[in-house]
Amino acid sequence: MTLSGNNYLQRPLLNGKVNFPVCLAPMVGLSHVALRVLVKSYCPPGVQTPWPTEMLSTWRLPKEELGQTPETLRAGEDPLVPQILGNEEQPIKESVRKLVEWGAAGIDINMGCPVSKALRHNYGVALMGDADYAAEVVRMTVRHAGVPVSVKLRAGLQQDEEFLLRFVRGLEAAGAAWITLHPRLSTQKRRGVADWGQIARVRSALKIPVLGNGDVQCFEDVLAMLTQTGCDSVMIGRALAARPWLMWQVGEALGMANPDGHEGETVPSTETEEGAEYGRACLLLLTTLERYFTPEDGLKRFRFHLRMTSGWLEFGHALMTICARGKSYAELRGGVATFFVNPQRMYKRTSLRE
Ligand SMILES: Cc1cc2nc3c(=O)[nH]c(=O)nc-3n(C[C@H](O)[C@H](O)[C@H](O)COP(=O)(O)O)c2cc1C
Repeated sequence: MTLSGNNYLQRPLLNGKVNFPVCLAPMVGLSHVALRVLVKSYCPPGVQTPWPTEMLSTWRLPKEELGQTPETLRAGEDPLVPQILGNEEQPIKESVRKLVEWGAAGIDINMGCPVSKALRHNYGVALMGDADYAAEVVRMTVRHAGVPVSVKLRAGLQQDEEFLLRFVRGLEAAGAAWITLHPRLSTQKRRGVADWGQIARVRSALKIPVLGNGDVQCFEDVLAMLTQTGCDSVMIGRALAARPWLMWQVGEALGMANPDGHEGETVPSTETEEGAEYGRACLLLLTTLERYFTPEDGLKRFRFHLRMTSGWLEFGHALMTICARGKSYAELRGGVATFFVNPQRMYKRTSLRE
């Protein structure tokens, strides 16, 4: 299996601005500014890929000052494609205008959030229960955004692929510039297996670009998803938080230069090389969290990061235990540094339970 310019982005994304087949997924509590800075530090020079935010509520955004809330801190990510949660025209209008003035190059609509509040209030994945209204939400967002609008969705509320294909065709007709499919049902949350076959079938049914998402854990999985589904790009959540140097691995396969600051190094690839890089990435993440967040906020985010990513480490639980005790950035940095004095193994794949 190889990676070449022929097997990705056959349909241009963001008017051709995007030139790389991998992007970070929006994740509440994880895809914050510090993680984006970390992932960006592993991107080869010249990489253009859409950067997400954590999902932003269109009922709150109109009252907020962008750049002043933890979820809207940013560090020059470009192109930035914030994700919104909403279903009503007026708050969507006010929110997207504000986001575009702030520099958003695109807007992503969340149609995948499966929490019970979303289901009760008819946003997130609940929008997949009404194809006409979901298309209307796309239309109203396109009307007010003036930048490309995408949708991130799931396989649906129940198994019905005919419905899924009708649903995505409706989004395309309503003006969606691309869609990202996480092929799990709402009821599966993040359990069970993501059905990549659905990504392939949705891609065949549409003319707009389709991004594939779900269960990509390592470089080989990126290749497999591109090859098996024909998707235009791969969106990665948990595994990109765990091994942000995946950007470097993919860049190397494409013949791109090493990321700045890594000139002359070889990309981590063995279990122990990746284990050591996980440690270095944790230290960089802590330093970056400290730049942007109060200790209370930053330490909480770091522990959540470990909870979601340490499953790839042979002794991830031990690292979590050490970091549960630290009360300051300095203590956590000390704990992490000591833990990684001994070589650690990082597995290519783990069972993703959360
Ligand atoms: C902690 C966490 C928070 C998430 N929050 C969001 C979110 O705000 N918006 C969204 O569209 N998806 C969200 N997701 C789903 C991911 O974007 C992604 O679709 C899912 O994790 C599957 O991809 P992965 O296997 O690469 O992680 C979240 C996932 C996790 C683990």
